[in-house]
Amino acid sequence: MTILVTGGAGFIGSNFINEWIEQVDEPVINLDLLTYAGNPDNLREIAGSPQYLFVHANICDGERVGELLDRYEVRALIHFAAESHVDRSISGPQSFVQTNIVGTSRLLDAALPHWRKVSDFRFLHVSTDEVFGSLEPDEAPFVEACTYKPNSPYAASKAASDHLVRAYGQTYGLPVLITHCSNNYGPYHFPEKLIPLLINNAISGKDLPLYGDGRQVRDWLYVADHCRALRMVLAEGKPGQTYNIGGSAERQNIEVARTVCAVLDDVRPRQDGRSYGDQIVLVRDRPGHDRRYAVDTTKLRTELGWEPLQNFDAGIEKTVRWYLEHPDWVASVTGGTYREWVARQYA
Ligand code: NAD
Ligand code: DAU
Repeated sequence: MTILVTGGAGFIGSNFINEWIEQVDEPVINLDLLTYAGNPDNLREIAGSPQYLFVHANICDGERVGELLDRYEVRALIHFAAESHVDRSISGPQSFVQTNIVGTSRLLDAALPHWRKVSDFRFLHVSTDEVFGSLEPDEAPFVEACTYKPNSPYAASKAASDHLVRAYGQTYGLPVLITHCSNNYGPYHFPEKLIPLLINNAISGKDLPLYGDGRQVRDWLYVADHCRALRMVLAEGKPGQTYNIGGSAERQNIEVARTVCAVLDDVRPRQDGRSYGDQIVLVRDRPGHDRRYAVDTTKLRTELGWEPLQNFDAGIEKTVRWYLEHPDWVASVTGGTYREWVARQYA
């Protein structure tokens, strides 16, 4: 049998596939459109593996997806592909509607007839904690049963896709699983997101922009811990169930920035002897900015025995070192289409 991953050339998907090939003896097909966020270079170490097949396609092409599911007798579809960046969803929501909502519905339509032939088929939707909205400082972390209150166009598009996935489970009996994960960090993270942006701006001598007062809180999880949780949910999760995944590592953005700067001060000190922290600046806030996310992972811990293995400070140090060792990767993903997009946005 085989698994089909969508969006496997992106940040989390490529970490997932790299680990899958290393740890699991089962073929994996990676279906990816290679948008600005998808980079085949993320998979260069496994690209020649007989276990790996890359398919350049759009998740909205349901016919293509259906052919792949049948031809390779796919037993599970792990759906990562999405437009994933909140700021981009604010400046241009339509691609989020198209990929995240329409794309997911096309995948579900393709999966349905396939599942009727491969009865133990599973559809795992990789979703986000952002569907639950924003927490007050004294509120308990999100549990699976929380009401959906998405605030950004990105979060709303992920909420809509979750609802479709759930509906195909309820209405047709498709064996679906949904995970709600908090903020990931680690290798191959596109440098428009906070942590890689801080690292790259710092060593390039640029400002480290924090939105608003910089006191918003995110619950950070090292990407390998997310990928392991997904393998466990796929193997042992109950169809129809949803699972929260998170690092239990709440940090204000200003704390994250200071941690990154402290590591850089140590491993690559500035030539003028000052701290990278001097480059931190507060800038105009993100519209509709969610104040705090935090995720209760009791269900995943008690039912499936998962727990995060990487602590935040060591994980940040590992991540900073990875970026310092991979300047070519950074240069390649921030060139070409990405730079054109930035130029258009900020012209
Ligand atoms: P990413 O932006 O790094 O990667 C997205 C991938 O999807 C890219 O390879 C891109 O080429 C591909 N893609 C986009 N549109 C496509 C289409 N129409 N057809 C086929 N492929 C397409 O995203 P990420 O950060 O790796 O996130 C992966 C998934 O995990 C997303 O669904 C996201 O909502 C979810 N998630 C992310 C985080 C996080 O912190 N990054 C946390 C929780 C959940
Ligand atoms: O919570 C899970 C979500 O985490 C995922 O579903 C999304 O796909 C992923 O992009 C991420 O969303 P965030 O909006 O939380 O991530 P981002 O890295 O864009 O921002 C993290 C925090 O840092 C947020 O409070 C906004 C702030 N920020 C971000 C950038 C890019 C800044 O202060 N300055 C910045 O330049």
